[in-house]
Amino acid sequence: MKKNWQLPSYDDAKRRRIEQSEVIYNTFNLSEDQKILGKHKSYYIRTYGCQANERDTEVLAGILEQMSYTKTSSIEEADVILLNTCSIRENANNKVFGEIGQLKHIKTANPDVIIGVCGCMTQEEVIVKKILKTYPQVDLIFGTHNIHHLADLLTQAHFTKERTVQVFSEEGDIIENLPSTRAQKHKAWVNIMYGCDKFCTYCIVPMTRGKQRSRLLEDIIEEVNQLVLDNYKEITLLGQNVNAYGKDRQMQDGFATLLEAIANTGIPRVRFMTSHPWDFTDKMIDVIAKYPNIMPYIHLPLQSGSNKVLKLMGRRYTQEEYLTLFDKIKKAIPNCAVSTDIIVGFPNETEDDFQKTLDVFNHCKYDNAYTFIFSPRNSTPAANMESVNSPQENKKRLLQLNELVKKYSLERNQEYINQTVEVLVDGFSKKDESIYTGYTPSSKVVNFKADDINIGDIVRVKINKVKTWYLSGELVK
Ligand code: SAH
Ligand code: SF4
Ligand code: F3S
Repeated sequence: MKKNWQLPSYDDAKRRRIEQSEVIYNTFNLSEDQKILGKHKSYYIRTYGCQANERDTEVLAGILEQMSYTKTSSIEEADVILLNTCSIRENANNKVFGEIGQLKHIKTANPDVIIGVCGCMTQEEVIVKKILKTYPQVDLIFGTHNIHHLADLLTQAHFTKERTVQVFSEEGDIIENLPSTRAQKHKAWVNIMYGCDKFCTYCIVPMTRGKQRSRLLEDIIEEVNQLVLDNYKEITLLGQNVNAYGKDRQMQDGFATLLEAIANTGIPRVRFMTSHPWDFTDKMIDVIAKYPNIMPYIHLPLQSGSNKVLKLMGRRYTQEEYLTLFDKIKKAIPNCAVSTDIIVGFPNETEDDFQKTLDVFNHCKYDNAYTFIFSPRNSTPAANMESVNSPQENKKRLLQLNELVKKYSLERNQEYINQTVEVLVDGFSKKDESIYTGYTPSSKVVNFKADDINIGDIVRVKINKVKTWYLSGELVK
């Protein structure tokens, strides 16, 4: 292999030092040549996976635009194509490999196009080796810790016409002041922390994203203040475990403190995700209940209702602790919507264990749930556990669970009949362009007809019909 290739290693990525991560300011600089490299050229980015990737894509777009590339919605016409990938489950990987295969005809038609693969998948050595061996159409590979090097990597790939690979497997720093082009004008993602130290036994994220690094409170507030000035209506604070914000900086009640400071910026709507049940404090519940601009919606992943399985997953809470927290939230914030994530078919999950998950579901009656079949991930402890159920058994459990998801989603939605709700107008219904769509504070989708309103307005809608996945109603003038 060539010397200038830097390949990843999960073994390195697992290490955690005690030292605090560095915050690096103003490291982003372009040479005069780089500023015009993309003149009369365009870029196309396809994003997979979670909001962390969505936000990274905004940074990639920001860097490309500073290099004078313009965005195109046609992948065939693009001069630079980036696939920002996700590795959370095997089917996420398969989707990306399918897509890379498809890009071959584009490369054949236009050998000058630069095709890059980045994101969580490229943090794994076997994946990078597979791309290098099987997919010659890929020119550029870089990891989640190398985003701020995009301009240099692209310049190298462009001028040398050689394949360029740079994937650091480190804990990661905090790089501030990177350019970014936000996808929307009324809603924004705001990273409050990077990485994860929880090491749930099934999960790849601590390896692909490095250690937990909280941004400084003042840097986050500065970003939010700017969003307020730019007339943004809603922000979503992002982190794998937002509740643990500040723990790596020895802050007491870090997330509650941050949330309160953000509520006080006056931004109309604040959301956050994901909340790990482990670090959820009473102070946080108080702050969410106290501020009307903190939206009453919490994503609280359960993963399993069985204490045996939770222990095997390394989740560090019991069913009883989860339910106590859930009930406390509902009591303090009565109109709070709660959604969850559940994995079925974890190694050793028996029918009885699965029943316990259903029991918790029946208690919580979630507004929504994202359900998955366990997918063994390379280099995670769960991948080596024995007693994996048959795929048929797991599929059966997933279908059974999804029936409950639908049942309670509809039931929760029915509570909205005849209620007037505030809706942040998001755009138009995919099925019918004459219908507006938006979200309630509790994150319900609302479809309605209206004239003379704009995307980004907050309007009042009286709900007159509900379905499993959305509400419909009439604009209240
Ligand atoms: N940080 C979040 C989860 C991020 S990953 C949290 O801890 O809650 C999003 C979801 O993907 C997880 O909640 C889990 O339900 C699912 N997931 C993660 N790894 C998985 C795996 N190996 N197989 C199946 N589902 C998985
Ligand atoms: Fe993965 Fe667990 Fe971290 Fe969530 S908390 S990202 S599931 S290791
Ligand atoms: Fe996927 Fe990486 Fe997010 S693995 S879910 S894109 S952190």
